[in-house]
Amino acid sequence: MSYVLITGASSGIGAVFAKQLAEQGQNLILSARRKEKLDELANQLSQQYGIKVETLSADLANTDGSKTLADAIVEKGWKVNGLINNAGFGDRGLFSDLTLDRQIQMIQLNVTSLVDLTHRLLPLIRRERDAYIINVASTAAFQAGPKMAIYYATKAFVLSFSEALHEELKNDNIYVSTLCPGATETEFAQEANMTNTKLFKAGAMTAEDVVKQSLKKKKKAIVITGWKNIFGVWSGKLSPRCVTRKLAGWLQA
Ligand SMILES: NC(=O)c1ccc[n+]([C@@H]2O[C@H](COP(=O)([O-])OP(=O)(O)OC[C@H]3O[C@@H](n4cnc5c(N)ncnc54)[C@H](OP(=O)(O)O)[C@@H]3O)[C@@H](O)[C@H]2O)c1
Repeated sequence: MSYVLITGASSGIGAVFAKQLAEQGQNLILSARRKEKLDELANQLSQQYGIKVETLSADLANTDGSKTLADAIVEKGWKVNGLINNAGFGDRGLFSDLTLDRQIQMIQLNVTSLVDLTHRLLPLIRRERDAYIINVASTAAFQAGPKMAIYYATKAFVLSFSEALHEELKNDNIYVSTLCPGATETEFAQEANMTNTKLFKAGAMTAEDVVKQSLKKKKKAIVITGWKNIFGVWSGKLSPRCVTRKLAGWLQA
């Protein structure tokens, strides 16, 4: 019996990953800080689908959060056939106005813990057949983002790192996919102070659609969700960076 570990499973995209994988009969390890939300979801999914769902609370913005989480999984002897590095947050504001602490925590959560967890769990993942890793980046990964400088930079890291891993691990039959959603209806916009931005006012996808596309294409190196976002990314590639970064800043207003 093996598990898929989902970080950030207490809400939004992570919780929907849990629901859609549970429908497929996949056993799950759910992680986030809000243990009560994880336990509630775990009870619901295990009763409805007859699968095993474990919960482990962890604060991955702490420097030792990912080590503690990985150590707990190793100690319990759980097998891991999938890792979904989904936990993350953003914050809108000028780099100089946002506190340094919060921005360092963002790098710790969105980047360092993702790398740390992947490295620590790879030996377990390698032992399983048709194993996979999905790293949640964003369409923010494709250009610089004034007024969200650190968030965009963290997602650019996730995309670059995951694309390289896709090539490194494909001969071991481990599929690494980078999920790049655009604006999506979750708790993210509220947390990032973005609900009134042009980006979110222009419309957001549902987390259900985002996850459906990700799971359907989980062997693909990069999955951009929704035609509007695919068009945005590709037209950005054809434009000079001085244009794409200005547009990104305009969308954050
Ligand atoms: N929604 C969008 O528009 C959008 C677009 C592109 C990319 N994304 C990316 O999608 C991913 C999921 O976000 P979402 O949209 O589903 O937002 P969400 O509803 O706010 O979910 C974020 C998840 O991350 C967890 N998390 C936050 N801080 C954490 C910490 N310090 N330690 C451990 N877990 C933590 C939260 O759980 P707890 O609070 O319980 O810890 C929650 O489960 C993120 O990586 C985000 O950057 C979102």
